[in-house]
Amino acid sequence: MVRSTGIKKLKSAIFISGNGSNMKNLFNFSKKKKSPIVVDLVISSNKRANGVQFLKKNKIYFEIFNFKQKNSDEKKILKILKKREIHLICLAGFMKILSGSFIKKFNGKIVNIHPSLLPKYKGLNTHERVILNKEKFSGCTVHIVNSKLDSGKIIMQKKLRVSNRDNPETLSRKILKLEHLLYPKALKKLLFKP
Ligand code: GAR
Repeated sequence: MVRSTGIKKLKSAIFISGNGSNMKNLFNFSKKKKSPIVVDLVISSNKRANGVQFLKKNKIYFEIFNFKQKNSDEKKILKILKKREIHLICLAGFMKILSGSFIKKFNGKIVNIHPSLLPKYKGLNTHERVILNKEKFSGCTVHIVNSKLDSGKIIMQKKLRVSNRDNPETLSRKILKLEHLLYPKALKKLLFKP
């Protein structure tokens, strides 16, 4: 992993698919003096993503790839990342699965946020499953991406108590708030030299 020197910010790309609240949060974080990243580029897998409006408004460079032709889309994305000298990819609500060969090319430099206490509840519909199983705790995890789904090295987690009045929607809202605290903290932990 290339680390930030604390002076020069690491050029980063954010990958999104939907709402983009984590992307907005990371973008706002990147503007702070003490942030180790600068957001250079956003890749969206969905042209109707809410986040796209934010990107236009804030004049952030973005590209849309629907991943229907995954192989060729990934090749095009890799070219863009190389051209723009991107050193870090932050997945933020990105709902496509990157190929093993793409991940290898950015080995250790792709970070993801997942709305559960990994290794529990990998994959989709985490909040529904947490509620169904009457879990007492849930939370979110920032981890390095490897070739297995939601399985790379954990950087940081935040935990909360699940109330017996929670449903998947209320839990999702509570965890999203935690995610906005966790992602910047985890990036600082990962990128700043001790
Ligand atoms: C977030 O809860 C994120 O953890 C989750 O999607 C949501 C996106 O929200 N990601 C995954 O489930 C990835 N497996 P956002 O678009 O508002 O950031």
